[in-house]
Amino acid sequence: MKLIHTIAELRNALGPGQAAFVPTMGNLHAGHLALVAQARAVAGPQAPVVVSLFVNRLQFLPHEDFDRYPRTLEADCAQLQAQGHCDLVFAPSEQELYPEPQGYKVVPPAALADILEGQFRPGFFTGVCTVVHKLFNLVQPAHAVFGKKDYQQLMVLRRMVAQMGLPIQIHGGETLRSPEGLALSSRNQYLSAEQKTQALQLSAALRALITEWQAGLRDRERMEGEAMDRLAAQGWQPDYLTLRCRHDLSPARAGEPLVALGAAKLGSTRLIDNFEG
Ligand code: PAJ
Repeated sequence: MKLIHTIAELRNALGPGQAAFVPTMGNLHAGHLALVAQARAVAGPQAPVVVSLFVNRLQFLPHEDFDRYPRTLEADCAQLQAQGHCDLVFAPSEQELYPEPQGYKVVPPAALADILEGQFRPGFFTGVCTVVHKLFNLVQPAHAVFGKKDYQQLMVLRRMVAQMGLPIQIHGGETLRSPEGLALSSRNQYLSAEQKTQALQLSAALRALITEWQAGLRDRERMEGEAMDRLAAQGWQPDYLTLRCRHDLSPARAGEPLVALGAAKLGSTRLIDNFEG
């Protein structure tokens, strides 16, 4: 496995249309590694698997955790090396990826990107699309793998690739959870031991919404409101808990495949999760 920091080295190491690519912000956990294993599976034994580690300033709001986001390059490389699937780690500096302020941006359509996460984190998906589009141009992969943990992100990026005509196949990876059911996340390490147990209430609330819908309840807004109230009563500050259609994230309708999505703050840590139902 090779660790590189510059675009020149990257271009040297790779031809176009070969690699299977897993973009990350580092601080890797088993969920990321599962995506790397999936990338190896789609790449086959010969094609290179590339993992990028880059904490992308463009997708953080000024009050968010950009500065304290954990940067753990050595431990990340050790995990990737031990797993054995990754050929190339691309860990550019901010100066390397954004040598001048990134004035050209990739702005996703509001209908998909200004709802849910985009409503509570304005500009977030523009930051994500801009960096992923740029990384795609640099790595020129044939495949890229993203987690369903960030369900809306996966959907926004799939649409970007389709609308921009990028020759890249996007793959979704299942969310990896702790044995208790907590979705693995780099932000879990901001939680105390007690909060980690409490954090299970978010996934439980989302599963409950799906169960209610499957039992035939259809008063969606009331169900969502009650789910948010229950979570608030348990000490959370919920942003949204909602039942949506899987294909476009519009409000759930009978007969359509569903997904329950939620985001809420526990103390100062904001967690997101989702379940397909
Ligand atoms: P990051 O949060 O580091 O996540 C990198 C990838 O890992 C994403 O595709 C995310 O959905 C996936 N992931 C996170 N937790 C997971 C889990 N428990 N199970 C499975 N997959 C999981 O998402 C980003 O970085 C950034 O927005 C990025 C796409 C890299 C652009 O900066």
